[in-house]
Amino acid sequence: MAPPAIRSRFVLLALFGVALFTFLILGGHRSIDGQPSPIQQANSNKQGGGSSGALLTGHAIAPKLGNATAKAELGRAAWKVLHTTFARFPEKPSEEEKEALRSYVHLFQRLYPCGECAEHFGKVLAKYPPQVSSRSAAAMWGCMVHNIVNKRLKKPQFNCENIGDAYDCGCGDDEKKEKDAAPA
Ligand SMILES: Cc1cc2nc3c(=O)[nH]c(=O)nc-3n(C[C@H](O)[C@H](O)[C@H](O)COP(=O)(O)OP(=O)(O)OC[C@H]3O[C@@H](n4cnc5c(N)ncnc54)[C@H](O)[C@@H]3O)c2cc1C
Ligand SMILES: *[C@@H]1O[C@H](CO)[C@@H](O)[C@H](O)[C@H]1NC(C)=O
Repeated sequence: MAPPAIRSRFVLLALFGVALFTFLILGGHRSIDGQPSPIQQANSNKQGGGSSGALLTGHAIAPKLGNATAKAELGRAAWKVLHTTFARFPEKPSEEEKEALRSYVHLFQRLYPCGECAEHFGKVLAKYPPQVSSRSAAAMWGCMVHNIVNKRLKKPQFNCENIGDAYDCGCGDDEKKEKDAAPA
């Protein structure tokens, strides 16, 4: 056992270490002027439902899209982007990658260029928040919410068992490995 004086000095040092660590962690998310950073606002608004300042879940931003042809073209392209994004999301994402996908889906909804579509889809997201724990969870979730939209538009349901094959774009699975094998 160390003498009491040395022990209490050690305790002080440990406390100082914890304080410094906490300051660095919290400080890192603050901007210089002391205002909360966008990330902080996004985080504090995550559960915020419809409150007016909510970055991820606020009102739909685009106006109504009257042209039905344009609306359908946009929809096909948008679903393709979403399903392909989920199909290429990591099977074992980091916490930061999960947060990125969650924010992406919410902002995709808020900024979707068909305002009335965005408004409907916002209600779907409120009821079924994005699943971001893995590629397969995200892909299955994407298929499910697309089916909810299909149902409302009286379109056929898609069989989500096939979701893995349907959006295998043949893009090449692992860029990093390819780069290692054949430098560009
Ligand atoms: C977020 C969002 C909200 C929308 N809201 C509206 C709206 O409110 N009103 C409106 O008129 N239009 C809306 N649309 C557009 C609409 O969903 C369709 O994209 C559009 O009507 C064209 O339909 P489609 O029959 O060509 O097939 P799409 O629904 O565009 O699907 C394209 C292809 O994806 C495949 N697919 C179908 N279902 C699934 C599934 N569940 N999972 C995976 N793949 C599937 C099929 O191969 C299909 O041909 C929305 C689109 C998006 C992305
Ligand atoms: C509706 O959108 C389609 C596809 O973008 C376009 O070709 C067409 O000209 C538009 N119609 C009108 C009336 O603007």
